[in-house]
Parts: sequence; C-alpha cells; structure tokens
Amino acid sequence: MDTIIAKIQNKDSDEAIYMRAAQILKSGGLVAFPTETVYGLGANALDKTASSKIYAAKGRPSDNPLIVHIADIADLEKLTVGIDERIKKVADVFWPGPLTRILKKKQCVPDTITGGLDTVAIRMPSHFVAANLIRKSKIFIAAPSANISGRPSPTRAKHVIEDMNGIIDMIIEYDEVDIGVESTIIDLSADKPMILRPGYITKAQFEQVLGEVFIDPAIQGNVANGVVPKAPGMKYKHYAPKAKVNIVDGKDSDVIAAINHFTRDKQSEGLKVGIMTCSENRTKYKADIVFDMGSRYDEASNARNLFEALRFFDEKKIDYVYSESFSTNNVGAAVMNRLIKAAGHTILYV
Ligand code: TXA
Ligand code: MG
Repeated sequence: MDTIIAKIQNKDSDEAIYMRAAQILKSGGLVAFPTETVYGLGANALDKTASSKIYAAKGRPSDNPLIVHIADIADLEKLTVGIDERIKKVADVFWPGPLTRILKKKQCVPDTITGGLDTVAIRMPSHFVAANLIRKSKIFIAAPSANISGRPSPTRAKHVIEDMNGIIDMIIEYDEVDIGVESTIIDLSADKPMILRPGYITKAQFEQVLGEVFIDPAIQGNVANGVVPKAPGMKYKHYAPKAKVNIVDGKDSDVIAAINHFTRDKQSEGLKVGIMTCSENRTKYKADIVFDMGSRYDEASNARNLFEALRFFDEKKIDYVYSESFSTNNVGAAVMNRLIKAAGHTILYV
C-alpha cells in the first residue's frame, strides 16, 4: 500500500490535508495523526470493519480495547450512559486534554473496539490537528498509539513512518508532540474513581475535583505476580526496545559507579551499551550512547525524551540499556511506570 504522508504547516491552512484524511476515515481507512500525548492510529470508531483494521496494522491482541476520540463534550452522550455531575465536572476541568475516561458504553459502540467490555474509553484531545480531524470528518475516531504493538509509542512523525509506512492509508505529520507519554486513564464507570494508567494528569489533580481517588493496585507492583490490571493494555510487556533495559537506583555516586562498571563489562564482551541519564550526570558516563533525558527536576523533559530514547537505542543497535531512576513527581510517575515496564518490572538497587 502507498501511504500518503502530509505535513501540517500552519493552523489556518492545510484544509486539503484534513479533507483527504476525512475522506479516507469515512470510507473505512486508517489515518495516523498527532495528539498532545503521542501519535494515534485512527479509524471510524463506529464502523466495525474499519476499526478492526487497526488491530491488523498494529498486530494488537483483540482483547485490548481502543480509545474513542471526540471533539465536543456534548458528543459524550451519544456514546455513553450514566453521565452524572461527577463525570461532567471532570470533563469541565480536564477536557480537552490528556485524559481518557472509562464510562459505561451505549449499544452503538461496537464490542470489537471495547474488547467485549460493557465500558468504553473516551478522550477529547486538545491538539488542534486531532480536534480538527475529528470535527472535519464528522466521525468519532478510535485510536490507539500509532506504533506496532509492543514498540515504544511514537512521539514524532518519523516514529510513525518507521512503524506504519506501507501499512496504513495516511500519516499526518506535525512536529513533535507536547507531552510524550500517553493519556492518564481514569475509570469513572463505578463508584470508586480509579486510575488505570498514570499520565500527565495526576492523582492529586483529580483529588481536587473528585475527593479520594484510587490507583489500580495491579499497575503499582509487579504485574507478573498474578494481579490483572483493569486496563487490558497494561498487562503486556510494552514500550520495550530490542535492547535489555536495566534501571539502577540508589545514591547518585553508587548508581554512576555501578552503571559505568556494568557498561565496561558488557563492552568487553563486544556488546553495545546505551545509558539514560539526567543532564546533571551526563558527563559522568562513557558508553556507546549516553542519552540526556533532561534535568532530574524537569519531569516534562524526561517525558518528552523517554520514547525517543528507547527508539534511538534500537536504531543504533544497542544491546544493553542502563537507566538512572527518574523523578516520580508530576508526569514523572507516568515516565517511571513506562520505564519499569520497558525494564520488565525490575529495578536494581545499589
Ligand atoms: O494518549 C493516549 O491515550 C493515546 C492517544 C493516541 O490518544 N492513545 C493510547 O491508546 O495510548 P492505546 O490503545 O495505546 O492505549 C489504550 C489503553 C489500553 O491500555 C487499553 O487496554 C485501555 O486503554 N482501555 C481502553 N478501553 C478500556 C476499557 N473499556 N476499560 C479499561 N481499559 C481500557
Ligand atoms: Mg499504546
């Protein structure tokens, strides 16, 4: 398949790109587009045949449901039931933005995109390209991240091109995304609000609006010990580059010494090593690649660099990755959640 690749240059132009993309979506095709979190791979959410193509393109297990993207809060009632004051309030405060809510679905939402669940994930993105595309195509867009299943999510158009060129109908390019990790998912389908996936919007922010908020216990500890996460996608080993990722935690000087020691060991066996470090420690390492993730106090930079780093290591055929532990404040909790998954849920304490 020839994939159309089109670059958005400016907010007020590029009408022709939206029109072409809208036409493809309405006729059942697949279009990748930027959002404020990561790039999404979109199809018409209410068209079973179209949305099932997403699973084939990504190699995604069919039990892993998709997020439906809308552009107007009023459309929520076309897709979900049981909208109460609490649900309205959360929408008023956090939408449009990097928040996905799990709500009870209406019958028009096909089981094929919800993995057979009676709930549906809904997000109203704030990125103007995503919002324009939804409005101009006049459909709801089902969109997972636009990566091959198991690979790091795409934060740049070139990542989408790497994974999806020749497989989907169209890729809309627009620079780098703003946030760099996927949306926070909160389950509001039951009485207890529960975070199923950490993201840019934090538990503390929700609690200002909702009172007590819970975190799915399965995403905090070791998923391997038999606790099943409520978001089906969280159970997969994910975000993993081809290299073996190792997180090293402890006192700064110990971490630096340990990582340098491991690096020399691996290099002496002829293996290539990549290191993920905060800017403050960048000059303290020697390896095939030393990737500067931004200041240890700048979680937003850490988030924007995470998937880029993991993909860069693949490109450079790195065998082993050693990473420092990063801040878990703000969006840092989401960064560490993804990094720990990439590392197969283990941290080495030194
Ligand atoms: O930021 C994002 O959310 C991006 C952009 C493109 O919007 N999308 C994204 O989609 O990250 P995806 O498919 O990579 O992740 C969706 C997650 C999966 O873990 C899935 O299991 C969960 O949402 N999910 C979807 N529907 C659900 C439901 N009804 N109940 C529980 N979890 C659900
Ligand atoms: Mg994904």
